[in-house]
Amino acid sequence: FTSPKIAPSILSADFMNMERDIRVIEQGGASFVHVDVMDGHFVPNLTLGVPFVKQLKRITDLPLDVHLMISNPLYQLPWFLECKPDIVTVHAEALDESAGEFDRAIDMIHEAGSKACIALKPDMDVDVLKPYIGKLDMVLAMSVYPGFSGQKYIEGTEDKVARVVEMARAAGVSPLIEVDGGLGANDPTRAVAASGCDVFVAGSAVFGAEDRAAAIAAMTKVAQE
Ligand code: DX5
Ligand code: ZN
Repeated sequence: FTSPKIAPSILSADFMNMERDIRVIEQGGASFVHVDVMDGHFVPNLTLGVPFVKQLKRITDLPLDVHLMISNPLYQLPWFLECKPDIVTVHAEALDESAGEFDRAIDMIHEAGSKACIALKPDMDVDVLKPYIGKLDMVLAMSVYPGFSGQKYIEGTEDKVARVVEMARAAGVSPLIEVDGGLGANDPTRAVAASGCDVFVAGSAVFGAEDRAAAIAAMTKVAQE
């Protein structure tokens, strides 16, 4: 049994007071800082990029969980890896499997000393991960269509989590499983926790709360029920 990890998404933080907001989640018991990188192409929204991630790394010792929602990730990966993020997530939909890009992305991340994660949009079949499950440190099951915070959890994501757990068990490995979108101290968090989720991303539920530490604590409690 491992205790649930809460990964607040700074997309919902105050960009003009980022250091202050990060201190609050550090003291509030966050396990990772979830960093949503969007390129305005893979997803409709545009958020932050390499210079921002580099500076974040300087102001916090919490592990950076960098979620790349970008097209052609192999091209930009070396730049992000130079920032030494702890975990780097690339979307399956952005990789050309027949060209060996899943392996290439995972290997590039590992060679740089970071942990590798592949994310799946809500419509992507978890079976796409089968050949790679043995070398992934984490799998991210999106519970909303990526692009914006504050969306509603898509029912059924908990079943995908269960299928990833099953796939990993069959392969004799135990990567972390992360869920992202619509989570808080709510039923979706309870449901994905029951299915085997380890890392719970929360944007609006944490940074939208008056007391962010209390929001993290409440969510942790629900995930442990
Ligand atoms: C969505 C992002 C999420 C988002 C989560 O595209 O990947 O990390 O910021 O926000 P909430 O928790 O508000 O759904
Ligand atoms: Zn995210």
